[in-house]
Amino acid sequence: MCGIVGYIGKRDIAPLLLEGLARLEYRGYDSAGIAVTAPKGGLKMVKAKGRVRELEAKVPARFKGTAGIAHTRWATHGAPSDENAHPHLSADEKVAVVHNGIIDNASDLRRKLEAEGVEFLSETDTEVLTHLIARSSAATLEDKVRQAVRLIEGTYGIAVLHADFPDRIVVARNGSPVVLGIGEKEMFVASDIAALVTHTRQIVTLDDGEMATLTAEDFRTYTTEGTSTSAEPTTVEWEAASYDMGGHDTYMHKEIHEQADAVDRVLRGRIDDRFSTVHLGGLNLDAREARQIRRVKILGCGTSYHAGMIGAQMIEELARIPADAEPASEFRYRNAVVDPDTLYIAVSQSGETYDVLAAVQELKRKGARVLGVVNVVGSAIARESDGGIYVHAGPEVCVVSTKCFTNTTVAFALLALHLGRTRDLSVADGKRIIAGLRRLPEQINEILKAEDEIKELAQEFADARSMLFIGRVRGYPVAREASLKLKEVSYIHAEAYPASELKHGPLALIEPALPTVAIVPDDDLLEKNRAALEEIKARSGKILAVAHQEQEKADRTVVVPKNEDELDPILMGIPLQLLAYHTALALGRDIDKPRNLAKSVTVE
Ligand code: M6R
Repeated sequence: MCGIVGYIGKRDIAPLLLEGLARLEYRGYDSAGIAVTAPKGGLKMVKAKGRVRELEAKVPARFKGTAGIAHTRWATHGAPSDENAHPHLSADEKVAVVHNGIIDNASDLRRKLEAEGVEFLSETDTEVLTHLIARSSAATLEDKVRQAVRLIEGTYGIAVLHADFPDRIVVARNGSPVVLGIGEKEMFVASDIAALVTHTRQIVTLDDGEMATLTAEDFRTYTTEGTSTSAEPTTVEWEAASYDMGGHDTYMHKEIHEQADAVDRVLRGRIDDRFSTVHLGGLNLDAREARQIRRVKILGCGTSYHAGMIGAQMIEELARIPADAEPASEFRYRNAVVDPDTLYIAVSQSGETYDVLAAVQELKRKGARVLGVVNVVGSAIARESDGGIYVHAGPEVCVVSTKCFTNTTVAFALLALHLGRTRDLSVADGKRIIAGLRRLPEQINEILKAEDEIKELAQEFADARSMLFIGRVRGYPVAREASLKLKEVSYIHAEAYPASELKHGPLALIEPALPTVAIVPDDDLLEKNRAALEEIKARSGKILAVAHQEQEKADRTVVVPKNEDELDPILMGIPLQLLAYHTALALGRDIDKPRNLAKSVTVE
């Protein structure tokens, strides 16, 4: 989705901003642009449809400036084009704006401005904002921006340059992330810390309704009402090197292979052998409060929702608290009953997914207690939550989530164990789960050793027009996530069904041309799952099983190491990440940036 980078200081601005944009490419975009305040006055701007390298080719050698803003656009209002790319300039060419988010009342504002004689050069909602800022009669840039954003309904993260105020960049946030990077006699702004970490690890994350003024020397933050706010920089731990491919051909491949280390990180420092439980420092939930929880409701989107489905099962199994997961995108619109005895948990890799954030805000408005299970430290969902667990997967760059899914399921296992041990889970079961958690990194590495075998299988599946994924109880969310992985990255149609539902409809689809991937753990439902394989085989369906032992009825079985029953779902999807990856590779897909998708969905 759209990305913003800005800089004020003494460095050569264009290469710095272009490098920042390149680091945001993973979010998905269709055009890019850059504007600077020229040393001799006025603004200079270049925009290009297509990739950042196409913009780079258009930027003249002498494109110097004292401050600059740049943007990657993901089209919402108007097709990808040079004109619709950001920044947008005001008619007098004094104001340049880059914007992430959606202005809901843009059409009304546009009509009013056109009636006043303003000519629009693009179809975007953002251009409205540019003209509003330029037409404000306020004396300072801060007041001009403040007046303009007050007229706007919708979401925004913006950065603004003004030729009459060349010593500053003014930024504002409402619903779209804005992060300040604090340097020595230089300041940065971005929509994502990925664009900042090569320059500084001191960051300030703006809250909704907050603005900031950046000069080379300093920064200050305040609300859109003008009241000063205090913002202490925090240090981000992610290394710049985490954003490099580290010898892999794609980020997806790198991130799949980082999973053992990532799981090690989410466990580190949290296990308490003495009491056979875990410490989750940020939970802000004491034992008495934990015992009062009557239900758990987990909310997330896409892969995070699937991790939440696994989490709900673990909480039911280990803590015996009724739990379920629901897409946050649905929950926020259905006027759900908000119950004071329910613990709500928002799950998100980015911590910025708009549907999840909106669900959290709605819950908070209704007095609920919300925990966040989030990867990006300091992200909006982490900050809006009453407490939570960081999943410590490290930066995930590929649009398709892999390592963060795995770490999120481990984080849920920790939470389930913690809640269980404040209730009825025995010391012996606590020890058993802890031992299982400790085995995970080694077992992940063992699974990844089967990559060549899975690559070979992927060549067979690349011809399929459609695939069915089935699993029962613990295997069902695994099947759903594997099906999402395959369709996102290979564009092969895939459908996931509970194996128990086969007879109620999907069996009609079975024929040799429709391969079925079946999740078959060695648990109390093994025989039931085997019966489902028989039914498929009897109809000449081709079967790939992911199981703990060879499955006679399957054409091929990928055998994964057995862990504790409750923890098996953490591992069983990993070979299917590789299957999705190698199928996409065989089909020549754009693996790290699948078509039409964005890493952080910060708009509705
Ligand atoms: O950042 P989040 O975890 O909140 O993102 C939620 C979904 O948009 C995300 O999981 C999406 O489904 C990914 N493309 C999955 O690979």
